[in-house]
Amino acid sequence: MKVLVTEPLSEAGLEIFRQTPGLAVDLRLGLSPEELRRTIAPYHGLAIRGETSVTAELIEAAENLKVIGRAGVGMDNVDIRAASRRGIVLMNTPEGNIITAAEHAIAMILALSRNIPQATASLKEGRWEKDRLQGREICNKTLGLIGAGHIGRIVAEKARALKMKIIAYDPYIKPTALEKLDVEPVAFEELLEKSDYISIHAPKTNETSNMINRETIGRMKPGAMLINCARGGIVDEDDLYEALRSKRLWGAALDVFANEPPGKSKLMSLENFICTPHLGASTREAQENVAREVAEQIVAYLLHGTVRNAV
Ligand code: MLT
Repeated sequence: MKVLVTEPLSEAGLEIFRQTPGLAVDLRLGLSPEELRRTIAPYHGLAIRGETSVTAELIEAAENLKVIGRAGVGMDNVDIRAASRRGIVLMNTPEGNIITAAEHAIAMILALSRNIPQATASLKEGRWEKDRLQGREICNKTLGLIGAGHIGRIVAEKARALKMKIIAYDPYIKPTALEKLDVEPVAFEELLEKSDYISIHAPKTNETSNMINRETIGRMKPGAMLINCARGGIVDEDDLYEALRSKRLWGAALDVFANEPPGKSKLMSLENFICTPHLGASTREAQENVAREVAEQIVAYLLHGTVRNAV
C-alpha cells in the first residue's frame, strides 16, 4: 500500500506511516495541480491539510485511491461528491486542534480589546501612544457565540473563566445541552442585539455564507466587536469594511478570509482591524495531534478496513 503526503505533516504522523510494515509513504510538497494529477495513480492513500485541491479531475486520475485523510477539520478543498461517487473514504481529525483553535479565538478577543497588534507596531516605530491605544475590559461583557460545537464550547469555558457572560446561537444543539454548559441559548437576532463580542465557530455552509453582512451588522450593538476564526466567507468583507470604517463596530479580528491569502484587502488599511493568516490550528501541539490522528486513521483503513471520522 502506498500513501502520498502533499503538505507539511508533523514528524509524529510521518513516523507512523514509516513504521507501518507493508506501507510506503512519499512526502511530495509543492506539487502543482497538474503534477499531482500525473503522480496520484499508484497511491492508495492521500494525506492532506487545507491547501491541496482535491478536484474531480484529480479523483478521476486517482485510479487506486481508497482514502483521503485531512489533518484538520475543514474539507473545503476537497470535492466530496466526486470522491464519494468513486467510493473513496474521506476522513478528518475533528478533535486534534480544537483547543488550539479555541485559544486563538480567545487571543483575538484579548488582542482586539487591548489593541495589542497596533500597540506593538506603534512602539516599534518609536511612539508612546497611551491615550490613542486605550482599550476595553472584557470582564462582565457578553460574548455571543455563533456555533457552540467542539470549538465554541471550549471558547465558552475559557471566556467564562475571564468572567464573560456567554450566550450562543446554534440551531443544531438542544437548548438544554447549552444550559448545562452555563451558556444561554438565544435566537440569532437576539445574539446580534445583546453581544458585546461576537465570535463565529460554525462551518461555512449555504446557511452561514455571508451571514454577517450589512443587515446583520446593523442589528449589532453599536461598538460591538467581531471575531472570525472559523471559515472565510461567513463574514461579508466589504460590509465589514464599511462597518469598521464608520466605527459602527469598534473592531474586528479575522483569522480566515473568503480568499486566502486575501491579497490587497481594503480591511488591511483600517486601524481597528486585526488579523492573522489562518493560524487558528497552528500550534506545534495541534499539528502533532492531527498528523498522528490522520496517519493512524489512514493506516487503520488501508490495513484493517476500519473507518474513523468519516466525513
Ligand atoms: C481546520 O480546518 O482544521 C482549520 O481551519 C485549520 C487548517 O485548515 O489548517
